[in-house]
Amino acid sequence: MDSRNPSGAVPPYAETEPHPAEFPWLDFLVTDNETIDREHREAVEQGNQLLRILAARENWADALEMLRRARARSARHFATEDGILEQTGFLGRDQHRQAHAHILAEFDRVLAELETVADPQAHHWERAHRPRNLLVDHCLKDDLLFKSHLMHFGGARP
Ligand SMILES: [Fe+2]
Ligand SMILES: [Fe+2]
Repeated sequence: MDSRNPSGAVPPYAETEPHPAEFPWLDFLVTDNETIDREHREAVEQGNQLLRILAARENWADALEMLRRARARSARHFATEDGILEQTGFLGRDQHRQAHAHILAEFDRVLAELETVADPQAHHWERAHRPRNLLVDHCLKDDLLFKSHLMHFGGARP
């Protein structure tokens, strides 16, 4: 039995997923690569839309649809970013590509779990925060690692 969940009544992740706030676009996120910056703005906007749907806890179908759209948008964005990091010779590109693959795999795990749910309980709504939390962490920790690289070596390229 999981020590965080001795009763077994609620899955262990229910109390461990944070309740994030809306995330505004912040100037320090700008990398000077127009494509990446545009896609990051879209991600922030879509993430906040998802957050509002999850906070309302009214429409499960909309929540699932937003998660699917976020998964598809993330896959497109990751491919764009991987290509730009390859073209501009970013040294950490392999680790970055792996981080993207990890996020997409986690996205698929969460979607597979939640798409079987017809009558969502509190812990399902909580679980639906997981992909966005991963994306925000990735943007703030991993994407900022290549910001100075792009600004010096390839920021102006598409
Ligand atoms: Fe990335
Ligand atoms: Fe990114």
